[in-house]
Amino acid sequence: MSDDRIEAGFVGMTFDDFLFRPQLGVNLSRQGIPLTSRLTAKIELELPIVSSNMDSVTGARMAEAMALEGGIGVIHRGQSIARQADKVAEVKRSYSAVIENPHCLPVGTTLGDAVRFARRRKITGILIETAAGSGILAGLLSSRDIPWTGQWQDRRVEEYMTPVERLHTHTPDISVDKAEQVLFDKRIERLPLVDAQNRIHGLITRKDVRFLRERPYSSKDGKGHLLVAAAVGARGDFIERAQALREAGADCFFIDIAHGHSTIMAEAVESMRAACPDMPLACGNVATFEGAKFMKDLGVDAIKVGVGPGRGCRTRLETAAGVPQLQAIREAYKAVGESIPIIADGGVRYDKDIFLALVCGASTVMLGSALSGTDEAPGRVIEDPATHSKKKIYRGMTSPEAVLESLYEVDDNDLIEDALDTPPEGQEIQVPYKGNVSGILHRIRGHLRSAVSYAGETSLEAARRKITPDPLEYLTALSESSRRESYER
Ligand code: XMP
Repeated sequence: MSDDRIEAGFVGMTFDDFLFRPQLGVNLSRQGIPLTSRLTAKIELELPIVSSNMDSVTGARMAEAMALEGGIGVIHRGQSIARQADKVAEVKRSYSAVIENPHCLPVGTTLGDAVRFARRRKITGILIETAAGSGILAGLLSSRDIPWTGQWQDRRVEEYMTPVERLHTHTPDISVDKAEQVLFDKRIERLPLVDAQNRIHGLITRKDVRFLRERPYSSKDGKGHLLVAAAVGARGDFIERAQALREAGADCFFIDIAHGHSTIMAEAVESMRAACPDMPLACGNVATFEGAKFMKDLGVDAIKVGVGPGRGCRTRLETAAGVPQLQAIREAYKAVGESIPIIADGGVRYDKDIFLALVCGASTVMLGSALSGTDEAPGRVIEDPATHSKKKIYRGMTSPEAVLESLYEVDDNDLIEDALDTPPEGQEIQVPYKGNVSGILHRIRGHLRSAVSYAGETSLEAARRKITPDPLEYLTALSESSRRESYER
């Protein structure tokens, strides 16, 4: 195969088939090399990494960590609509200059209930309103107000809160700079925003303001909330799911099905555009020139590329369907060029694979197994009693285990029957426990910067501009022995 759809040198090739030819370096500190890239035309990321919409990879904690580090997480859909929407809302609430709808409890709530409420929502201060739903501030209860000892569980919040008369509050029009000053001058952690009638309009916390200052690279929306994406299917209750996710604050949808080059996808995109016209749509998965062209014709905002390269995938083994991942990325790029960002999904085992995906046509790279095994990935750490080695579970979304679990959550009978009818194309494996995901993202960032520097450029964008039109100019195809020389250690 060698025609307009792909260069002959890419046919049958994937990440381990190439090395990058080092270019004349330019004198710049690697620290300063920007890696900014596009998830969609309108969403830019400082770190071009997306965490996979898998139940062993992306829940609220992972999505929050991804956005904090400049990437983005896609909350998986193997769960009920309500639970997925809650996770989106949790990420949107986690950091922002102004919390617009702060959690409130009414006067009369017991301290025991208030503590449970705070724990569940992972907050340390609760606004107390005069009555349930009144929206009128009565006071503030912080973790410091809870007694350490004694029978406090059944006491009422109003006995321990700081009442509104003694609270520092401000009108809603305060700027972030001014709020920072007030928080410092008054030595307080929280500043409720209220109008003249004490109606609650928001809350500013010291933690959030500090975060804004310290992490200018985090992925944030116009209001300073972390960005979060969410997966929706293409059938059954997917529109209802999408509406709930949009309501919860999702910034982008992933219409994610195994075979995206299909009429089901075309119908899903059309219905989704009608239901949520303003929502960016990343769609997949496809692995061919024709599949990417099909997505372009549907007018999607990003194309997810990858059929079968993932570590939890059995698609190629079970059906023979698939395209080597670097070839698939290149075909997609030849089909759409820079007109629609490409998300390279699956098959990344080393950080160098991310760089190759990016310079061969992808704008961002989706990672599953590389981010699994971390604290932020859902699931518990298992310790082997004999060796004391620690592991976590990573599983394909169509593995029997993931399908079975999602069936407890999903109400849609069509989807349930469909799932029970489809033989598994995924599997479950154990992966070593890896600690904090920020450590992995820090390493990836460093390696990407070094790769850009070997490419003789001062930014990822410049490297892509130079290399992507004809990557084979910059790549050396490997023989078996050069592959051994490169990778066997
Ligand atoms: P990595 O290699 O990063 O791949 O672990 C993650 C990607 O794998 C895909 N995925 C699956 N593919 N059967 C498949 O054929 C599955 O059960 C399955 N689950 C996940 C998905 O695209 C993910 O982002």
